[in-house]
Amino acid sequence: MKSYKIVLLSGDGIGPEISEVSIKILKKLSQKYAFEIDIKEEYFGGIAYEKHKDPAPKVTLEQCKSSDAVLLACVGDVKYDSLPRELRPESGLLKLRSALNLFANIRPVKIRKSLLDSSSLKKEIIENVDLIVVRELIGGIYFGKPRGQITNTELKKAFNTMVYDSSEIERITEVAVKIANQRSKKICSVDKANVLEVSQLWRDTVLDVTSKYKDINLSNLYVDNAAMQLVKEPSQFDVILTNNLFGDILSDLAAMITGSIGMLPSASLNNTGPGVFEPVHGSAPDIAGKNIANPIAMALSTSMMLKIGLNEKEAADDIETAIDNVLSKGYRTLDLKNENCQVLSCSEIGEKIIQEI
Ligand code: IPM
Ligand code: MN
Repeated sequence: MKSYKIVLLSGDGIGPEISEVSIKILKKLSQKYAFEIDIKEEYFGGIAYEKHKDPAPKVTLEQCKSSDAVLLACVGDVKYDSLPRELRPESGLLKLRSALNLFANIRPVKIRKSLLDSSSLKKEIIENVDLIVVRELIGGIYFGKPRGQITNTELKKAFNTMVYDSSEIERITEVAVKIANQRSKKICSVDKANVLEVSQLWRDTVLDVTSKYKDINLSNLYVDNAAMQLVKEPSQFDVILTNNLFGDILSDLAAMITGSIGMLPSASLNNTGPGVFEPVHGSAPDIAGKNIANPIAMALSTSMMLKIGLNEKEAADDIETAIDNVLSKGYRTLDLKNENCQVLSCSEIGEKIIQEI
C-alpha cells in the first residue's frame, strides 16, 4: 500500500479547528483509495514560540524537509506583535518557506457556482472568473537586504530592500509558463516598472523567458492598474505572475471575488522537495476557539496537496466535489451567510463534507 508522510502544522488561532476537519477528510480518503497517511503534527508559529522560544523550531523544519508534503493551517496572534521580529509567528512562516526553498506560490481563484451571490462584486462580473496567482515567495522585499531601523538619529528611520536577480525571476516565470500551458496560455505579469528598477528587471526578464515559448500570450500591468482591473473585470485574467509583495496584496483582493477569504487554498512549491499547502487566510484570533471558522480553504489546500504533492488526483477531486455538493445544498459557515442558507459550525460543515466523500 502506498504510504505518505504528512507533516501537519496546525499553528495558531483557528488553525487547530480547521486542521481537524482536514485530518478527518484525509482519513476517509485514505480508506476509500487504499493509501496510508502518516500524519505527524509539529509545533509551528506562536505555539512553537511558547514551547521552544522559536516560531519555526529546527525539529519542525527537519520533519518538514523529510516529509512527502506539509499541510499548514495558519499562524499569528496580536499577542506576539510586540516580540522582536525574528520571534514572531510570521517570521517562522518566512523561515519555513525559505528553508524548503518554496519559491513558487500558487493561489487559484475559482468561483464556486453556489457562492455567486456571496461576493461583494456583482454576479455578472465574477461568474466566469477562473484565475491563478503565481507569486514569487522567497525573494523581493520580504527577504531583501539591507533592512532595518535607525533609531539613534533625530528622526527615526526604517527601510527595506526590494531586490531580485534575474535567475529568481526566470525560475518563477518558468512555473507560470508551465501552468499557463495547461490552461489558456495567457500570462499577465504585474509589476511597477514605471517607478521601480527592480520591476524593470522583472518585466525585461519575464519577456525574455516567455518569448522562448511562441504560443504564450504575455501582457504586463502595473500593480495599481492590476488591482483596479481585478475589481472591474476579473474574468480578463488567467495566470497572474508577480513578485512576493504584490502577490500577497493581489491574492487577498482576488480572494474576495470568491465571496470569502475562507475559500482560498494555496500551494508553495519548488522543483524538487516537499511543498507546503496552506489556506491564504490568516489565523483569525478574533473567532478562534468558537467553532465558527470556515474550514473550506484548508480542505481545498488538502485537495491541492493530494493532487500536486502526492499525485492522488481522484482523492483530490473528491474533496472539490464534496465541497461543491455541500455548498449547493445551502450549508454555509458564518462568513458566507445569506438569507436562504443554513449556517453550520466549522465541525458540522466538516462532517457534511466527509459525508459527501
Ligand atoms: C500570506 C500571509 C503571509 C505573507 C504573512 C502571514 C507573513 O499574509 O501567506 O499571504 O505575507 O506572505
Ligand atoms: Mn497574505
